[in-house]
Amino acid sequence: MLEINDLVVRYKHGGLLNRLTPGAVRQVEVLAGVSLHVPPGKTLGLIGESGSGKTTLGRAVIGLAPIGRGSVQVNGRQPNDASDLSWRAIRRETGLIFQDPMAALDPRMTVEHLITEPFVVNGREIKRRAEASRLLDLVSLPSLFLDRYPHQLSGGQARRVAVARALALRPKLIIADEPTAGLDLSVQGELLNLLTSLQRELGMSYLIITHNLAITRHVTDRIAIMYLGRIVETGPTDRVFRAPAHPYTQALLSAKSQHQSPGSGVLRGDVPTLAHRPAGCEFHTRCPLASELCRQTAPTLLSITGEHQVSCHTPLINPRPFGQTGRIELKETHP
Ligand SMILES: Nc1ncnc2c1ncn2[C@@H]1O[C@H](COP(=O)(O)OP(=O)(O)O)[C@@H](O)[C@H]1O
Ligand SMILES: [Mg+2]
Repeated sequence: MLEINDLVVRYKHGGLLNRLTPGAVRQVEVLAGVSLHVPPGKTLGLIGESGSGKTTLGRAVIGLAPIGRGSVQVNGRQPNDASDLSWRAIRRETGLIFQDPMAALDPRMTVEHLITEPFVVNGREIKRRAEASRLLDLVSLPSLFLDRYPHQLSGGQARRVAVARALALRPKLIIADEPTAGLDLSVQGELLNLLTSLQRELGMSYLIITHNLAITRHVTDRIAIMYLGRIVETGPTDRVFRAPAHPYTQALLSAKSQHQSPGSGVLRGDVPTLAHRPAGCEFHTRCPLASELCRQTAPTLLSITGEHQVSCHTPLINPRPFGQTGRIELKETHP
């Protein structure tokens, strides 16, 4: 349903040097050659720290980020350039749940208008009230919400409205960017349950984008771990949780077990900036296992077993459970 091949997205670097030196426009590679695929009816979790390029990837799928190299294909359609009309078909077939639903919902529109807007945008005639009720019903909100405005919704209700809106045109693919961020744990669980039961009912494929590895465990078939715009590990969810092979994935998992978000505690050191990517393996500045080889030569994504792939010179092929080894400590970044 979704096929991404060697995708590169570059933006102009907004740094001081660029602004002061005309003609010296440097570009940063936000996505540096990403390949992913989501089969029909399946769910892929894309996990990475803030700034790793997750939202950019979601935007690139619907043609909202400049594709420098590689390709994006949704349901067999592959637009050739930014002006290609097949992007419109892709946008119709792809339901987007944005990172910040409150910001994505126009405060002046009622729920009825918000969730039926995709029909209007696409020039489709519908019985608005009836269609809005049907969509609200799908996300288990009563019809009395139809006349409410975004500020009258709780965080969880706003997410449900965002889901209803994403479902409006009966998409084949849903991209959910941080769908549970900022919600209480119990509300997070309810929302994830809603997403899984909708998938069972309607059969869509999901790309779930998140910085929170924990929420992907029970709702994804496969996961892909991204670092600085590259996939460093990917595989069936159970397999990666049981036997994470990349030191970065291991660190994220141990952060999870301590109810921390990635980047705090266990993951020491700052994420290098995209404008100054480290040489060799880009994770070596934070990796406890880094060797001379890692500092000089970039690893490539290789299969460990079947569908489980890792990009690391010293993958943890037989990692012991964290209970036995304690948590791994990542080194400070050297500036
Ligand atoms: N339109 C843009 N112009 C320039 N830089 C951008 C743009 N969009 C994203 N970026 C940069 O790309 C990087 C990744 O951003 P993003 O995809 O939002 O990461 P994530 O969603 O993983 O937090 C950031 O460094 C961000 O500043
Ligand atoms: Mg984001």
